[in-house]
Amino acid sequence: MSWIQRRRSEAYYKKAKTEGFRSRAAYKLRQIDQKFGLIENGIRILDLGASPGGWSQYCSLVNEDGLTIALDMVPMSRVENVQFIKGDIFQDDIWSKILEFSPDGFDLVLSDILMHTSGDRSRDQANSYFIAKRVLEICEHTLGRNGKALVKMLQGDLTEEMRGEFKKHFRRVHLTKPPSSLPRSAEVYILGEYYSGH
Ligand SMILES: C[S@@+](CC[C@H](N)C(=O)[O-])C[C@H]1O[C@@H](n2cnc3c(N)ncnc32)[C@H](O)[C@@H]1O
Repeated sequence: MSWIQRRRSEAYYKKAKTEGFRSRAAYKLRQIDQKFGLIENGIRILDLGASPGGWSQYCSLVNEDGLTIALDMVPMSRVENVQFIKGDIFQDDIWSKILEFSPDGFDLVLSDILMHTSGDRSRDQANSYFIAKRVLEICEHTLGRNGKALVKMLQGDLTEEMRGEFKKHFRRVHLTKPPSSLPRSAEVYILGEYYSGH
């Protein structure tokens, strides 16, 4: 990591500590929200890959009158206003478990999921593609009409393919990298707006 990048990463880490966020990741969601107006107070949010909970904390603050359901394989300590499901997105029929918490579905599906990276770029990219594809499948069962989805991917050839997949289901699609995501990191976020179903 270059000196400038390390400084930037440390600065966000310190900021998160002082502002009470559990992870620097909270700033990525906040910056994307500020740019695209993702979250309005009172909506139903599904936060996939939520631990340790920075995104959930942000949702809890901004969506204080709404519903936030967080899911992760790894336990997460309690966040006010947020209900946690311990689970794996690849579990069969995971949407049935999710829908027990919000039977009429969600307005926004978030996924910050990344598997452990192997260092093999194309393998890591392929994994992130399969995760994004699974999140789209979860959207088919849980996301309401005109809803939004924000999904992390590692940038590469498959990002364009995933963008194409999103275009089949969302009327508007953006690729974004918030300033708090380190330039050296290959992560990008695909945002779909106005879900039209499948
Ligand atoms: C980058 S972290 C998320 C950080 C979080 N957004 C925050 O703000 O604190 C990625 C998370 O994805 C979770 N994850 C990885 N594979 C998963 C899977 N198959 N199902 C559910 N969660 C998964 C990991 O356990 C990890 O907690």
